[in-house]
Parts: sequence; structure tokens; C-alpha cells
Amino acid sequence: MGEALRVALAGLGTVGGGVIRLLDTNGELIARRAGRPIEVVAVSARDRSKDRGFDLNRFDWVDDPAELARHAGADVVVELVGGSDGPALALARETFKAGKSLVTANKAMIAHHGLELAKAAEAANLALKFEAAVAGGVPVIKGLREGAAANEIGRVYGILNGTCNFILSKMEAEGRDFADILAEAQRLGYAEADPSFDIDGVDAAHKLSILASLAFGTQPAFGEVGITGIRHVIAADIAEAAALGYRVRLLGIADSAPGGGLFQRVHPHLVPVSHPLAHVTGSTNAVVAEGNFVGRLLFQGAGAGDGPTASAVVADLIDIARGEFGPPYAMPADA
Ligand SMILES: NC(=O)c1ccc[n+]([C@@H]2O[C@H](COP(=O)([O-])OP(=O)(O)OC[C@H]3O[C@@H](n4cnc5c(N)ncnc54)[C@H](OP(=O)(O)O)[C@@H]3O)[C@@H](O)[C@H]2O)c1
Repeated sequence: MGEALRVALAGLGTVGGGVIRLLDTNGELIARRAGRPIEVVAVSARDRSKDRGFDLNRFDWVDDPAELARHAGADVVVELVGGSDGPALALARETFKAGKSLVTANKAMIAHHGLELAKAAEAANLALKFEAAVAGGVPVIKGLREGAAANEIGRVYGILNGTCNFILSKMEAEGRDFADILAEAQRLGYAEADPSFDIDGVDAAHKLSILASLAFGTQPAFGEVGITGIRHVIAADIAEAAALGYRVRLLGIADSAPGGGLFQRVHPHLVPVSHPLAHVTGSTNAVVAEGNFVGRLLFQGAGAGDGPTASAVVADLIDIARGEFGPPYAMPADA
């Protein structure tokens, strides 16, 4: 067994807490698979006194997340704070300056600053990994970067936001209107108190811009994604679609245009009932990628939640522990 990979973890909320619990539960199995143990040595969050259901005293506590990058006892940093800029971005930049690799679940930061961070990581021969940033626990980034790496991808598309899919599939099953189901989703914890990032399609567009870069080798271009959310979908739209043999899903779609362009858009879409995405209900995520040799691939599973998202974060840590990582976007960022 090799020496432990020592982790500095910023953010102890839903996902950060999930990572601690996962490593506590499956630590021995992970050590056998990775060839070395993975141990959290230092943590940061806002409130040190909050009860998180685990003992914080076994970790070094650091008030400022950016300070974690310089923690002498850590080999790698995990960023689970969130937000495209602010403390998350400061920590990511400091991590590469300090010569450490970074794992993040932060789609907003990767959609806005992924290229800059990938260049910094590559220049220092470090890892930048973000499996959890798209479709939570579903290994779609690994699928595109590795499994489908031999293919030219013609199109990548999917259900990238669990909140929207929960609302649309419940409107479909119960014939109720948007506002009514949104209020229920908020009561059940499937939608945030301010749900605009989800229901207006921004979160799906963050994820789509990441998938598109991986699939097409283009610069991440969140600002170029055409976005329409689901606020204006009414029960009658869904009934009319059903009468014509379709279901309504919020899809993110990226496909190559004739002549070399790339279309990226997020909008409510009519999906024929014969298509697998028409049968994805509730908060599940699903991504389809079409490769010129492999054909149609379908990745599906839990797009959020502490367990699934922690599963993706720790998978990235296992890759780093094994020394298995290449360019974050599947080809060198300068290309
Ligand atoms: N939740 C999911 O299912 C999911 C799925 C995929 C990806 N993600 C991504 O994962 C990341 C984390 O999400 P989450 O749901 O775990 O968020 P969360 O539950 O809100 O947790 C955020 C954590 O960051 C800490 N934090 C916030 N601002 C801070 C600051 N200025 N300085 C230090 N610590 C700060 C918070 O501290 P306190 O606990 O002390 O308040 C909390 O521990 C986000 O990028 C999100 O997009 C989440």
C-alpha cells in the first residue's frame, strides 16, 4: 500500500459532508482500489460550530478556504463551496500556484473559468477534475473523455437539470400547472428557495457548455448558449404534446453545424415517446452522446444529492491517487 493521498476539503455542506461520509464508509475498499488510502486532513467552511453529524476535531480547521491551498499537510484540494467566482475561484487559482491538483463539483466556476484553470493545471502538470459538475453521480465526463475518446462526436444532448425534470414530469403525470408544482418541489427540497438558476435554464447551460467543450474540442462558451427555461410551460402545452405523441423535457443540446460551427442551446423540447429521454422522470439526469464509431451512448442516473455527487468527487480523487489524469478537457487546453 502506498502513502496516503492527503486531501484539503473546502465546503462541508451537502456534497462536502457526503465526501466525508463516503470516505468514512468505503475507505478500505477505496484504498485497495486506489493503491493508497485517501484521507481528509484539513477542512474549511463558514461556521465551525455547526453540527454536521461528524467529528470535526480530527481535521485541521482553516477559516479562509484559499488558505487550504497552502496547507503543508495536503497533496490535493477539493473545492465544494460553489459560486462561479469569490472564494471558490480564489481557492482554485491558489491551488495550482501551490503546486496541488484540484477536484471540484462547481459547474458555474468551470463553465466561466474552466479554460483558464485548465491552462494553469496543465502548465504545472497537475490535475483539474470536475466529474461531479455535470449530472452529479453519472460518469458522463469520464465517458466522453475516456470511453468515447476514439470517436468524433456528432451531437451531445440531455436532461441536465433534475429540478426542471421533476417539475415537468410531475406536471405531465398530474395535469397541474407550473407554479403549483414548483411550490411543491420547494417544500420537498427538490427546488431552491430562489429557483431561477434551475428553472430559467442557467444551470443546464453551465453543464451543457462543459459537455460541448469535451465533446467537440471547442473553448467553453457559456455566453454563446441560447437559453430558455420552463417558466412559461403550461399544463395545456404538455397535454397537447401528449396528444401528438410527445413529452416535454428541458434539454441541453450541442451539435456540430454544417460548415464547422457549433450550436448550443437549452430549451423545453418535444421528445417523441419512443425516445429514451421521454421516459426519464423525476429528478434523474440523462445524457446522450452520438459517436461516429460507438453509435448512441446513454448515461443516466442521479444528477444531485450528497451520495451520488460525493461518489463522483471521490472517483476523481481515486484517479489522482493512481496518477491517472490527462488534460482536463480531453485535449490540451491550448489546442
Ligand atoms: N448539492 C448537489 O446535489 C450538487 C450536485 C452537483 C454539484 N454540486 C455543486 O457542489 C458545490 C457544493 O454544493 P452543495 O450543495 O454542497 O452546497 P452547500 O450545501 O450550500 O455547501 C456549501 C459549503 O460551502 C461553505 N461555504 C460557503 N461560502 C463559504 C465561504 N465564503 N467561505 C468558506 N466556506 C463557505 C458552506 O459553509 P457552512 O456549512 O459553514 O455554511 C458549506 O459548507 C456547488 O458548486 C454545487 O453546484 C452540488
